[in-house]
Amino acid sequence: MPILPPACQTLCVPLHTPPPPEWERKSATTMGEYQVSHVLGIHEKELYGPIYVGGFKTVSLSSVKLMEEVLRKEEKFPSRGDMSLWTDYRNMRGLGYGPFTEEGKNWYNLRALLNKRMLHPRDAVRYGPVINEVVTDLIKRICYLRQASPCGTLVTDVSNNLYLFSLEGISSVLFEKRIGCLENAIPDGTQHFIDSIAQMFANSAGVILLPKWAQRFSPHWHRYIAGWDGIFKFAGQLIDKKVEEMERRLGEQQEVEGEYLTYLLSNTQLSRKEVYGSVTELLLAGVDTTSNTLMWALHLLSKNPEAQETLYKEVSDHTDILSAEEVNSMPYLKAVIKETLRMYPVVVMNARRNIEKDVVIGGYHFPKNTVFGFSLYAMSHDEETFPEPWRFEPGRWLRDGRERPYPFGSIPFGFGVRGCVGRRIAELEMHLSLARMIKLFKVEPDPTLEEIKPVSRTVLVADRQVNLHFLDRSNQSQR
Ligand code: HEM
Repeated sequence: MPILPPACQTLCVPLHTPPPPEWERKSATTMGEYQVSHVLGIHEKELYGPIYVGGFKTVSLSSVKLMEEVLRKEEKFPSRGDMSLWTDYRNMRGLGYGPFTEEGKNWYNLRALLNKRMLHPRDAVRYGPVINEVVTDLIKRICYLRQASPCGTLVTDVSNNLYLFSLEGISSVLFEKRIGCLENAIPDGTQHFIDSIAQMFANSAGVILLPKWAQRFSPHWHRYIAGWDGIFKFAGQLIDKKVEEMERRLGEQQEVEGEYLTYLLSNTQLSRKEVYGSVTELLLAGVDTTSNTLMWALHLLSKNPEAQETLYKEVSDHTDILSAEEVNSMPYLKAVIKETLRMYPVVVMNARRNIEKDVVIGGYHFPKNTVFGFSLYAMSHDEETFPEPWRFEPGRWLRDGRERPYPFGSIPFGFGVRGCVGRRIAELEMHLSLARMIKLFKVEPDPTLEEIKPVSRTVLVADRQVNLHFLDRSNQSQR
């Protein structure tokens, strides 16, 4: 069995990937490593080949075939590696774990419960009306913001507005309650919650890079902990209110009706502590991911008017407010989101750790507890899997007789039993909102902005504020 060469030694498999655009290369050398980790995946593949030992002793894979080999050999209870930064906080406060932080059999049992009413494609149908209400409010907000702009069409800071939309959307599914993110004045409690999420993420990097014993002495530690406190407090209050409401209804001999939270509280054996842990993690995972993907989709469509026109033709054949079922007959809408996630996979890195036994990958032997890291960004820009990888071409996903891309080439929601639990909700939010926005507005870029580049900040975000013109489709003489 060959031995894997140490870091920075090239393996024998040569590489023929064409270079990424000039700005990608420049940004890799001029920006912090953390921000360009997605580009590093491509450069490291060129330098070291498809498999090498990277930072934190992770075995980095940048070949689709090798990633597939790892995923196909994954264990019954797959693990992504060390989550102690999150579990330390929960242990300190005596809080429950959720799907990200649980491991082994406990994780498996938890996922079995969380998957119900969420993971199956038919589950999306039940949340369609709720999400459509939130989309209506997003459209109202876009109308309000563009009217308030000097030219009457510009919406500034699109990412932030989509963040508010995603938070409202996922909260309305999880808590069965609107929390007012899209109102003109956001309620104080909700604003504090939004700030707490930002605070927790912003201070994570300053904590995780230190050895464990030193973390508590970092100036970031207290802010990191205060961020989590704000998140758990807000989620806890909403869950407690739901419990009170359910108890009141039961006391009055009324039926307890509802969707996700009601199901978790009444149809499962989960304790209140476990519900807090799970709902909080679902909430956190479901905001930046969906909002940034939507932002990239609008950005790409604004830069590719032909693709936008094709999408407009498809959506204009349907009713204004789509149902989740109708989306199934809209292949181009689905292809636009798939292609967006190929070009900008918001979760740029993923990983698996073999906990139970040794494993052989690519002919190399790896002991138990090896962490394999995958650069999803590098893989989905691999020319062998995706010809012209830097071109936005939703058509490559259509089932119109052309050869379909290799299934493991772009797996933005991960793979297998540990894959994204929120995938169907995320797709529902993105499909329903994108369809309505493109039906009502022609989206154009802001010509005063320089080229927008992706940077990794936990997820793949834009390196600057994104502004877009939303031209009223029913009044084309606007500009
Ligand atoms: C564009 C939107 C989204 C993308 C691209 C995305 C992507 C991912 C990826 C790549 C993973 C890791 C999967 C693996 O290891 O195989 C993941 C896990 C997860 N996602 Fe998402 N996600 C999105 C939206 C959401 C939403 C809306 C929710 C909540 C409803 C959510 C909840 C989760 C949770 C809880 C996990 C951890 C699952 C586990 O470890 O068992 N995600 N997601």
